[in-house]
Formats: sequence, structure tokens, C-alpha cells
Amino acid sequence: MNLNSRSFVTQYYYITTMGCQMNEYDSNYTAQCLQEMGLQPIDPPEKADLILINTCSVRAKAQQKALSVLGRMIKIKKKRPSIILGIMGCVAQQEGWNLIKRFPDLDLVLGTREIDKLQSLLHQLVRGKTKVVSTDLDKELFTTIYNNQFFEGKITSFISIMQGCNNYCSYCIVPYVRGREICRPPGEIVKEAENLIKQGVKEITLLGQNVNSYVWRDNGEIKFSDLLRLLNNVPNLVRIRFTTSHPKDLSNDLIRCFNEFDRLCPHIHLPFQAGSNKILKMMNRGYTREQYIDIIQRLRSARPDIAITSDVMVGFPGESDEDFKKTLDLIQKIEFDNLFSFIYSDRKGTVAEKMPGKISESDKITRLSILQNLQKEITLKKNRMLVGIDTQVLVEGYSKKGKQFTGRTRTNKIVNFLHENDIIGRLVQVKIDVAYINSLYGKVINSI
Ligand code: SAH
Ligand code: SF4
Ligand code: F3S
Repeated sequence: MNLNSRSFVTQYYYITTMGCQMNEYDSNYTAQCLQEMGLQPIDPPEKADLILINTCSVRAKAQQKALSVLGRMIKIKKKRPSIILGIMGCVAQQEGWNLIKRFPDLDLVLGTREIDKLQSLLHQLVRGKTKVVSTDLDKELFTTIYNNQFFEGKITSFISIMQGCNNYCSYCIVPYVRGREICRPPGEIVKEAENLIKQGVKEITLLGQNVNSYVWRDNGEIKFSDLLRLLNNVPNLVRIRFTTSHPKDLSNDLIRCFNEFDRLCPHIHLPFQAGSNKILKMMNRGYTREQYIDIIQRLRSARPDIAITSDVMVGFPGESDEDFKKTLDLIQKIEFDNLFSFIYSDRKGTVAEKMPGKISESDKITRLSILQNLQKEITLKKNRMLVGIDTQVLVEGYSKKGKQFTGRTRTNKIVNFLHENDIIGRLVQVKIDVAYINSLYGKVINSI
């Protein structure tokens, strides 16, 4: 396609991604749409004919980062005005035309459910339309793309099994920017998995804001556990993971899956958000602290080796010192393998934005640092327990330091090690020698 009718055609694109794994999946989907149109990726952005910024708005900081990247890209566009500059993702969905008004250099605003319209929208721009904004949220699913070579050379990959969220946690922007929950047909998910495996992918992470509420109704009902069974039977898929689960929908049926399906990794990411029932209620999370503890006990008694990670927030409106202590207490009781901790951030249009009792920034920062120090000790203690133990690692590539290989245990811990041969994509047995906070270091004792 002649993207650049204004001068010579090089047909290169550049995508920058911020936000969650869903956004990473969407960026890959977008790249596949563009490559189907004959465009090629390029770095740095200065050389691209089309620049797309995939954004996140989950916290104010994420949104600021998106706008600062946009500012940088606008500078590039000012030097070469023929560039088509687009913004997509959750900030694009939320702000729509406001973005064009505020940043007249932008050409395209693409909503979270409109990605498969990209080709026709770009054609409109090339044919002379000056600005395009497409942010319809009512649209059903994207058209599935498979049978290309986009993932060749990758060992791990994502598959989105559903879009949107119906939970309306009082602090969260996601239901407003991703729309209502809608599930993809199991047949398409399995086909996408088969296509990834054909390209060499060994491990697939199923994505959704609340994967355990997955259900497909056709002739009968396919629940999330049934979907896991279907994937567990796909030949040559070595590992299956999923994220994120919601405590309120976590069934015994799903807990059983960890013992039933040999490819399913013993790790669950189960955000708890707060340890105080008062705050959980104000957050509209739909479970109590006691129920959360009970789920963890059931998970651990079914699968003692399961790794448990979580998300937590400090400084929700009305969070007293007592409430915060209950969060710390829960962390201490459960001893998560790892924890992603955030400072509560007001999001426009959410219920919590209008709640009284806002906590000062300095108190939020203090609470976050107390919480993170506690978790650091727990993570290190848990990692140290692995020293001397042999563990299975799927080798994903080279570590950041270059010379070492890197991979993950079935419990999702990063392991780095040296090896003479290229063993990327292989399963190896590693004996752990050293434990750090964010990774483990060991020796390969045999390849499987
Ligand atoms: N669907 C997932 C998570 C989506 S957002 C779930 O329900 O767990 C990822 C994390 O960002 C959330 O778990 C929450 O801890 C955090 N988060 C969401 N909105 C936030 C806000 N307004 N301020 C601070 N953190 C927030
Ligand atoms: Fe947001 Fe809650 Fe939905 Fe997660 S479950 S995306 S936190 S509304
Ligand atoms: Fe961010 Fe949107 Fe994901 S707000 S966390 S990119 S769903």
C-alpha cells in the first residue's frame, strides 16, 4: 500500500507499547495487520512512515508516560510531516477526539476494539482524509489472524481469550476503556495456539482481565477449565499459563486443573488489592479477606508447590493505618512469591474518584515503601529456599547481561545460567546455586 502519498514510499512502521500484557498482545496483532498490508517494521522511529503509540491509562503515571512519548514522536513528525502518527490503546479509547484537539499533529486515534479496522482507516488517511478517530466500543471481536510467520523464533507467547471486563472495581478504568466482557470461541483459541506452536512457540499464556470467568456458550457450555483441557491436548505445547484470575470467581474446578493438566504450570496470579474488609467492600471486589485466605489454602492443599503472586494497592480513599496494617498482615500470612504493588491513583469517571477520605501522596509513598520492604524479605526468603534444588527451566533466550541464558521455572521464576551450546527453546534441569530478589542463578545438570 502506498502509505505515503506525499513523497517516496518506504513503507515502514514503528510501534511502541506501554501497559499490560493485553497491550503487548494488541501491539503484536497490529503489527501482523500491518505486515499483511506489506509494511515492514523499523527502528528508530525517525525512519518510519507510520508511528503508532499503544498506551495505558490504568494509573495517572501511565497516562503521563503515554503523553510524553507522544510529545517525543510529535517532535519527530515535525521534522518529517509526511509521517502518519497514530495513538491507540486505553488512553486513545478514553480521550478520542480530545487528543486530536490537544495535539493537532496526531493523524489517527484508534480505540481498543477497532484494531482490525486499521487497514481501512489508513487507506482513508492516505486518500486525503486529514484526521481519523475510531473508538467504537460496541464492536464484537477482532478478526482472528493466523497462518503467518510473525512469531517465528519466539519461545513464549500470549493468546487473548477474552476482551473487556464487567467487574467495575470502584478504582478501575479498564471496564470503561476495554468495554464489556466478551469471550473468543474455543476453536479459534486452539487454532491460534496451533499456529504459534508451528512457529516454534513452546509456552502460551492465556490472557484476559478475569480469565476464570471465561465461558463459551454454543451447543452446551465451555468453561475456563474446559478450555484448559482443550489446550492441554494440543500436540507439542509444552507449557500453559494464564493471567489474570479474580478471587471471586475462583472455583474448585479450576483448582483441580493444576493437578489434572500436566502442561499447566503451578503458578497463579491472584490480585487481592487490600487486606481490610472495609476497603475491599469499597473497592467492590466481591470477596472478603477470609475468603481470599481460604482460596489460598485450598490452592496450596491441592498443589503444595504452587507459586502465588498478586497485585495490591496502597492509599485507597479512606484507608486508615489500621486498614493498611491489615494489608501488611495478609502479606505476612500468605507469603506471596512476588507482589506487584501500586499507589492508588484517581481515574476520571470511576466511583472511587468521587469518594471522600483521599490519602496524601506522602502517606501513600511511605505505605508503599513499608509494604515493598516487607515483600522483598519474603521474596528473598522464598527464593533462597530453592538453593540446592533441581528445577525444570524452559530456556527463553539470552539474559540482559548477554553471556548467560535465561528461562523460567514452572513457577514463573527467572533462572539465569551459563552453557556452551545454544539451548534456546529447550527444557533443561537446573540446579539452583544462588538466589537474588528478581532471579535465580544455577547450573544445567541435564537437558530434556
Ligand atoms: N484485571 C486485573 C488487573 C487489571 S489492572 C485484576 O482484576 O486483577 C492491574 C492492576 O493495576 C490491578 O490489579 C490493580 O492493582 C492496579 N490498578 C488498577 N487501577 C488502579 C488505580 N486506579 N490506581 C492504582 N492501581 C490500580
Ligand atoms: Fe479492573 Fe477489577 Fe476488571 Fe481487574 S477485575 S480489570 S481491577 S475492574
Ligand atoms: Fe493499561 Fe489498558 Fe492494560 S489501562 S493495564 S493497557 S487494559
